[in-house]
This record gives sequence, C-alpha cells and structure tokens, in this order.
Amino acid sequence: MGRVAGKKAFITGAAQGLGAAAARRLAEEGAKVSLADINHEGAKRVAAEIDAAHGAGTAFAFPLDVTREDQWIYALEEADAAMGGLSVLVNNAGISRGGNIEQLSYEDWKLVMSVNVDSVFLGTKHALKYLRQNPPGSIVNISSIAGLIAAHNSPVYNASKAAVWLLSKGIALHCAKQGVDVRSNSIHPTYIDTPILDPLRQTFGKEEAEAKLGRQVPLGHIGEPADIANAVLYLASDESKFMTGAELKLDGGISAM
Ligand SMILES: NC(=O)c1ccc[n+]([C@@H]2O[C@H](COP(=O)([O-])OP(=O)(O)OC[C@H]3O[C@@H](n4cnc5c(N)ncnc54)[C@H](O)[C@@H]3O)[C@@H](O)[C@H]2O)c1
Repeated sequence: MGRVAGKKAFITGAAQGLGAAAARRLAEEGAKVSLADINHEGAKRVAAEIDAAHGAGTAFAFPLDVTREDQWIYALEEADAAMGGLSVLVNNAGISRGGNIEQLSYEDWKLVMSVNVDSVFLGTKHALKYLRQNPPGSIVNISSIAGLIAAHNSPVYNASKAAVWLLSKGIALHCAKQGVDVRSNSIHPTYIDTPILDPLRQTFGKEEAEAKLGRQVPLGHIGEPADIANAVLYLASDESKFMTGAELKLDGGISAM
C-alpha cells in the first residue's frame, strides 16, 4: 500500500516544476491526482505520463487560471467527479516579479498578489465543501522561504508568500474550530531547480546562476523538486495527522542563520 493510497489530490500549477513533481510523487504512493494549470497542454502531458506509469484513471488534467473564481468552481467540480472525491488540495501555482519597491509596477504587484494569494483564498474557499466530505483532508500551500525572510528587491513576492503563510494558519484554525477534519499547512522552499529560475539562468548562464544561488544556502547548493515533493507527500498523508497550522521550511539551512 502506498503512503497516500486512496487519497484524491488536486494540484495547481502542475504542468511543470514543483506541481508536476508533487503530482508524480503522490501518484507513485497511490493517490489519484488532478493536475490543474493555465497551461492545459502541459498539464495533459504530465497527466498522460503519470497514467502511463501507474495506469489509466490515475491522473486527470484541467484548465485553470487560479485567479478566476468561475474556473475554480468548475475545475473542482470536474475533478471531484473524475476522481470520485477530493481529499487533498495543493495550492502550488505561483509567479514572481522582480524590482524593488520603487521599480515595481502596480500592475505587476496586482498580478503577483492575485496569482499567489487570491488563488489560495479561492481554491480553499471552494474546495472545502469537497474536502470535508472525504476526511481526513489536507491543504498544502506552497509559500516560500521568501514569505519568512525579506529581500531588498522582491517586495511583492515577499508580501504574497507571507500572506500565504498566515492564511494557511487561519484556514487551519477555522477547520479545527468547526470540527472539520481538514488540516492546513505551508511549505517554504528556498531555490529549487525548476523553470521559475530561468530568468536568472538567462542573465548569468545556467552554471553561474545556480552556483550564485547555491552560495547563499548553508548546504551549498539549490534544492531538487523531489525535496519539495516529499514534503507535499508527508503533509498529504495521514502521517502528518497531528500537524496543522504549521510551516515546513525546506531551505538548506538559510533560516537557521
Ligand atoms: N522553484 C523555486 O525556487 C521556488 C522556491 C520557493 C517557492 N516556490 C514556489 O513554488 C511554486 C511552484 O514553483 P515552480 O518553481 O514549480 O514554478 P514554475 O514556474 O516552474 O511553475 C509554475 C506553474 O504554475 C503555472 N501557473 C502560473 N500562473 C498560473 C495561473 N494564473 N493559474 C494556473 N496556473 C498558473 C504555470 O503555468 C506553471 O506550470 C510557486 O508558488 C513558487 O512561488 C518555488
């Protein structure tokens, strides 16, 4: 039996990077997975790979712009029907825009806040009615170490990921107070090898960019998608049944300094 056998997980931003890695890892451990992404073709490709590895009917793909309430309502309803329920929500889709407080445009501020924060609000608001029907449920929100530690040049990324951190706790307390068996926790990675780092790779070249980032990490290198997928697996599984309103920092030691 897999560690999440029988679980039914909905993962946003699952066409690539950490979302795709989480979907693959959950499927390996017995879950059904719904991959939702604004890049529907990409989500379909990853779902097809998962089905090829674990059998047809393991993975499903849905188009979803996480900033759109109407699309959330439709995608969750479809995923619940396809998987025969919903017990795990992974709010993973997220973007970043650089620029310090004086450089950042208001349009970029609103875009990042919407993709990173509105998504968690909308997804959780509409998923809870399904999650409470399939207890124990788990909400896993992908924040960032940048939600706990600020930098001079990422005000909107810092603010959005800090919002996800505390929103996760508020959701946890709401569910606990209501006696709803749904946990809510956040994950805080440092730099992980995904396409989100491509702008930096384009500026400095792949090796130099990764070395530059690695020098900021006490362990000396950036992380792999599997490092985060394993944390998602733990929080999605009943192994974490006494953990709610908490944060898991996967930062190679950065926050220990
Ligand atoms: N990789 C890192 O270094 C790192 C570190 C800390 C936190 N994170 C967080 O992890 C999450 C995943 O990051 P990643 O590295 O896999 O990024 P990524 O850019 O590789 O993938 C992000 C995915 O989200 C999708 N997406 C973007 N906007 C969307 C929208 N409006 N609706 C639906 N889907 C949308 C994209 O199509 C893409 O498939 C993000 O929330 C990111 O902030 C990443």
